[in-house]
Amino acid sequence: MNIDWSSLGFHYTETDYIVRSTFHGHRDEKGQLMGQWSEPEATRDKYLHLHVSATALQYGQEAFEGLKAFRGVDGQARIFRMQANAERMQRSAEGLYMAPVPTDLFCKAIRLALVKNIDYLPPYETGATLYFRPLLIGSTPRLGVGPGVDFEFVVIPSPIGPYYPGKFHCTTFIINNHIDRAAPLGTGQFKVGGNYAASFRATEAAHLQGYDCMFTDAKTHSFIDECSASNFIGIRGNQYITPRSSSILPSITNDSLMTIAREMGYEVIRREIPVSELSEFEEAGCCGTACVISPIGKVIDPDNDTVYTFGNGEPGPKLTELYQALQDIQYGRARDHHGWCEIV
Ligand code: PLP
Ligand code: COI
Repeated sequence: MNIDWSSLGFHYTETDYIVRSTFHGHRDEKGQLMGQWSEPEATRDKYLHLHVSATALQYGQEAFEGLKAFRGVDGQARIFRMQANAERMQRSAEGLYMAPVPTDLFCKAIRLALVKNIDYLPPYETGATLYFRPLLIGSTPRLGVGPGVDFEFVVIPSPIGPYYPGKFHCTTFIINNHIDRAAPLGTGQFKVGGNYAASFRATEAAHLQGYDCMFTDAKTHSFIDECSASNFIGIRGNQYITPRSSSILPSITNDSLMTIAREMGYEVIRREIPVSELSEFEEAGCCGTACVISPIGKVIDPDNDTVYTFGNGEPGPKLTELYQALQDIQYGRARDHHGWCEIV
């Protein structure tokens, strides 16, 4: 194994093991899904033996997660908030009529994936981390439209570098009011593959122009929904403002940053954010597991012939401070008084 940690991007690098667990079930007379998950097992086999008519393939019965382990300043391995990811995956499972993976089993599988691939946990100060992609898929063969009763749960580890390569820098977003990622009462609040496939037309069009895509709410196209695959944050004075919307993913990074921001004395506000309010923010950014925070330099609104700019094109001091505060906890440089990190 010869990995140049510092040059890793957000790309898949195969590790020795994945972890796998299987659920075989049936529905009882009340429609309740009955069945059991097998003990999670580490395997070198990266392929699933999946029936061509599996509900994941036919009808998109699939959900996933994303979380990281960090090599701390003290050399120890820290997994960040995996219980929160387990709970979100349970909500996704419920949203798509799948068997939920119990929190204990989810955490056991992540720990096993870390321990079996410990050589792939990047050293401290390389900017790289070990990312885990838990995946839940429906495996029952079906042609009739409906949910299955059998599921595969796998944890795919991969060492990764920063989502946005280079130093902490600003990105540009372009608003797309013509393609919706998720409906207001649809699946946007769940982390399911279909949301991402549905966003590709918009995100790839933005990438071709050299930008990332900002989605507005699907009902009125006047409020900020999400920044590609991350939540939006606007800073005005001592206010930390982030969208409240039924079609965005509740980000665990955003939740952590909101907690830190409150502790720093910010007023944290979650509400609908009209696109026009972008002109009032001193700093803007997007947040998620992959990038932690990525400051936004510009938002282009082509339909209204408007370009919103933030600061002088350099990351602003407030988002930089929030970014550092969260990374300090993740790398063990600050006291983790919330108990967010599990040392393995
Ligand atoms: N929004 C979307 C659509 C995402 O895919 C993600 C990434 O997981 C996020 C927001 C950020 O969520 P988290 O901070 O839990 O990674
Ligand atoms: C994130 O983890 O922040 C993401 O944006 C998820 C994406 C890579 C699917």
